[in-house]
Amino acid sequence: MRRDFLSTGDWTRDELEGLIESALRFKRGDDNSKPLAGRSIALVFFNPSLRTRASMQVGAFELGGNAVVLEPGGTSWTLEHRDGVVMDGDKTEHVAEFVRVLGRYCVGIGVRTFAALKNWEEERRDPILNAFAKYSDVPLINLESAMHHPCQALADMMTVREKLGAGRKRVLLTWAWHPKPLPMAVPNSFALAAAQMGHDLVIAHPRGYELDEELMRDIASKTESAGASLTVTNDVDEAFDGAEVVYAKSWGSSRFYGAPEEDMDERAAHRAAWIVDEQKMARTRAGVFMHCLPVRRNVIVTDGVIDSSSSVVIDEAENRLHAQKAVMANLFGRQK
Ligand code: CP
Repeated sequence: MRRDFLSTGDWTRDELEGLIESALRFKRGDDNSKPLAGRSIALVFFNPSLRTRASMQVGAFELGGNAVVLEPGGTSWTLEHRDGVVMDGDKTEHVAEFVRVLGRYCVGIGVRTFAALKNWEEERRDPILNAFAKYSDVPLINLESAMHHPCQALADMMTVREKLGAGRKRVLLTWAWHPKPLPMAVPNSFALAAAQMGHDLVIAHPRGYELDEELMRDIASKTESAGASLTVTNDVDEAFDGAEVVYAKSWGSSRFYGAPEEDMDERAAHRAAWIVDEQKMARTRAGVFMHCLPVRRNVIVTDGVIDSSSSVVIDEAENRLHAQKAVMANLFGRQK
């Protein structure tokens, strides 16, 4: 059966620990295997990227393989993902043909397809990623969809392990103000993976910026079965108390999908209070500062925090490379 990497939730804690061990071996230089030798992976980007694109291309190369980068509507044809549509509009090719053709050239396909922030009920089901999954004959890697960014979350869990050692940590995911509403994939996946790894998780956000209800039930169940705690709070200062990891990210409210101006009006009140600054970091237990990047300085986090010795954002970005090599080695190393 085809194995994909679409959400960390599809992988057990032991499997995720195995991927982190593998990533650490790649990072230390203890694993120089070439499981992609002579083979190619397709990387499909509907949206811009620095880290994901560069680290996947470099990772494929370092595993002995080749990466084919495609940008639908740019360097490849515009893509339709809905079934049964009369394609007389602006879409030239259907995912049904696109992914099966790529599967004849490549051993796997990575895809990035952000939320459009237009229709919450539709986008929370990840329709484009699911269309790829429906038609693909080769393993898929989610390079950030509307709901999940598992490669980022795996690198994040690797970074926590690397900086603080194994075992349960007090991990804070804090919302931050941003001039525009942003997708929820990163906070969703960070919270889910932290729960899976058995960390004590605090999620802080203003009222109205709750994460997806179904996902939160899953996160609550996973923290409980790991014997860890889950706290959701609207108090941005108390949230920092005793944190060992501070993970900042802005996200949009599901209530305002399709109405970005309303979200911008709502969030305006939170601009000053929700920045990660030196005062908040002083409440932590020598907490490390993490962010997936790109980050807006002095909006999400002050220069003083991101430039301090507490900040691990560059190591975190480096770990994307090692984590994704571990994922590719796992998915494609077993293929004959
Ligand atoms: N963190 C992350 O996914 O970065 P890019 O959007 O640059 O790929």
